[in-house]
Amino acid sequence: MKIFLATNNKGKIKEIKEILSDLNIEILTPRDLKIKFICKEDGDSFYENAYKKAITGLLQTGYITISEDSGLMIDYLKGAPGVKSARFTKKKNNKENIKKVLSLLKGIKKEQRKAKFKCVIALALSFKKVKFFEGECEGYISEKEMGNKGFGYDPIFIPKGYKKTFALLGEEKNKISHRAKALFQLKNFLQTFLK
Ligand code: IMP
Repeated sequence: MKIFLATNNKGKIKEIKEILSDLNIEILTPRDLKIKFICKEDGDSFYENAYKKAITGLLQTGYITISEDSGLMIDYLKGAPGVKSARFTKKKNNKENIKKVLSLLKGIKKEQRKAKFKCVIALALSFKKVKFFEGECEGYISEKEMGNKGFGYDPIFIPKGYKKTFALLGEEKNKISHRAKALFQLKNFLQTFLK
């Protein structure tokens, strides 16, 4: 079975493909189909955005579509950047976003640097049948950038129970991350669905 993965984010594509690699499905990215996937992410929640992306993907390609919306929620910033994680700064790039977070948390002690990543995956089987899967990963924001693996805010997020950032953990991230947790549920669902 072929499934369209409605994202252009290389970091997400890598992780999703790795975690779903043992399923009997072919994952098609916009690049594989030589199309541009464009979807305005203007929803107020991860669910809204994931739903929008899944329906847009299904409409655009006709394939069952997987999409995901995710972001970082920092307690001290009252849940920001949240759904706006990718566009927390005008330049909308990881370097600037990280710089902004670190400067907003400057001088703030570890106990107050709690944060979590959240991920919502939508699976559009048809326009009327969309399933959702959710995952969270708690942790805190480091005082400086550490590591160069992964993407996004990985260099400044230390998951609970660890001393290293996601960007230092590398492959291990795929066992404990918000995306991994949501994908494990999706995987269970697909295993039954594919029988
Ligand atoms: P969106 O889902 O396309 O709105 O983008 C989510 C944004 O949240 C990404 O561009 C990253 O900035 C951030 N993000 C989501 N998941 C992760 C992750 O696993 N590591 C680091 N940053 C992430």
